[in-house]
Amino acid sequence: MSSLPHHVENNRTLWARLSKDFDEPGRRAWASGVIDWGVWNVPEEEVHALGDLSLLNGKDTVELGCGTGYVSSWLARLGARPVGVDITPEQLANARKYQREFGIQFPLYEESAEETSLPSESFDYAVSEYGASIWCDPKKWIPEAARLLRPGGRLVFLRNSTISVLCSPQEGAAKPELVNDYRKIERMDWDDGIEFHMPTGDMLRLLRASGFDVVDFIELFPRADTPPTRFEYIDLEWSHRWPAEEMWCAVKR
Ligand SMILES: C[S@@+](CC[C@H](N)C(=O)[O-])C[C@H]1O[C@@H](n2cnc3c(N)ncnc32)[C@H](O)[C@@H]1O
Repeated sequence: MSSLPHHVENNRTLWARLSKDFDEPGRRAWASGVIDWGVWNVPEEEVHALGDLSLLNGKDTVELGCGTGYVSSWLARLGARPVGVDITPEQLANARKYQREFGIQFPLYEESAEETSLPSESFDYAVSEYGASIWCDPKKWIPEAARLLRPGGRLVFLRNSTISVLCSPQEGAAKPELVNDYRKIERMDWDDGIEFHMPTGDMLRLLRASGFDVVDFIELFPRADTPPTRFEYIDLEWSHRWPAEEMWCAVKR
């Protein structure tokens, strides 16, 4: 563990502290069993990020930066065989707690998603919802996801939209104007966490260079009746005007 990059250690310390705030929301997501995405809970039946859900039955999935592991629990309910990877012991302790509570067991690895010990070409899906997708260096975790997937395997990840990062000050909610330089958002050193928001064109090229074909790119909006989120970095009115979140779907060649 001593050879971990600075940002990985930094983010593990941050998530050890944040894990108590994600405990109850994690339980609610485990309990719901309905797949939805991001802060606005946009249903998978609208988004279709995972493709045909019936195909998940019997498939091997890996969640990179799984946190409390609720996405993996949803995939398990569809018949998949999930594996979760996360760097923070406190988050994995919550995931294990919910595994016992909801009776859904799957392996959890305390590792960095930038460099796992998992065997090559052993998964059909790799997913990340605000996990590796923002906390890991994409130049490391995207090639690692490519290594883990079998040919034809699907990578699905959700992150803050590029426009929301461009509009986000150090503190408070995203503004209705640009506050960050496009070329500086690739690595954002916030007051506590270090996040990665590779711009759109660079991400597209990285995915292609790592052996993926991008098959979908979905910008998420709240529904008309969606209530405000508990997250202070994004507000509802802003998110009706611009997409706060985006999902990438890519297939390994
Ligand atoms: C927003 S949370 C997890 C998202 C998950 N969908 C959830 O809400 O439970 C972000 C997670 O990324 C994990 N993380 C941060 N850096 C990581 C790394 N280098 N490798 C693996 N996981 C990492 C954190 O420990 C944290 O659990």
